Amino acid sequence: MSPTSFTIRAVAPADVSSWRMLRHRLWPRASADDHARETEQLLAEPHRNAMVIAVSSKGEALGFAEAAIRHDYVNGCDTSPVLFLEGIYVIPDMRRRGIARALCSSVEQWGTSHGCVEFASDTAIDNIDAQTLHRALGFDETERVVFYRKRS
Ligand SMILES: CC(C)(COP(=O)(O)OP(=O)(O)OC[C@H]1O[C@@H](n2cnc3c(N)ncnc32)[C@H](O)[C@@H]1OP(=O)(O)O)[C@@H](O)C(=O)NCCC(=O)NCCS
Repeated sequence: MSPTSFTIRAVAPADVSSWRMLRHRLWPRASADDHARETEQLLAEPHRNAMVIAVSSKGEALGFAEAAIRHDYVNGCDTSPVLFLEGIYVIPDMRRRGIARALCSSVEQWGTSHGCVEFASDTAIDNIDAQTLHRALGFDETERVVFYRKRS
């Protein structure tokens, strides 16, 4: 892949529509209203949530990451609170250029500056790209869990 010039920055008011568009690509089952509501909630709690966006030199939105400080128990972790990677996405044409690595590094620095000493995450069992990314970024696999549901 050719080198790519991009910038990582905290989501600013001017980035909100691009951020929502990228979120929709990662979580397409959520409606536009859901994304609007969730992004407003995240922006309203800047002490708890880090949202960063990758932007090209031409101003195109290339990817985003969201992380939250979780005070409840986080599987596989020993400390509390823990920084948790809630979502990360890079547009298909711009993958394997280090954008996810830079997004993660940015939110990790934010977590460290907010007192977190552990950075946790999860992904679907069949998302091999994301599992490979996590290992490449220094995450150790901790647990595999099975979700259940019973209708009553
Ligand atoms: C997973 C995803 C975020 C990776 O983004 P990216 O910008 O391509 O990742 P990076 O270029 O920063 O990759 C860093 C390292 O992770 C590993 N890696 C990332 N994607 C990989 C892939 N598809 N195959 C193999 N290794 C991969 C590599 O070691 C890579 O370093 P290298 O390119 O120097 O070998 C991107 O593929 C994506 O958006 N996927 C769809 C959404 C998704 O699955 N999100 C994660 C949900 S938890």
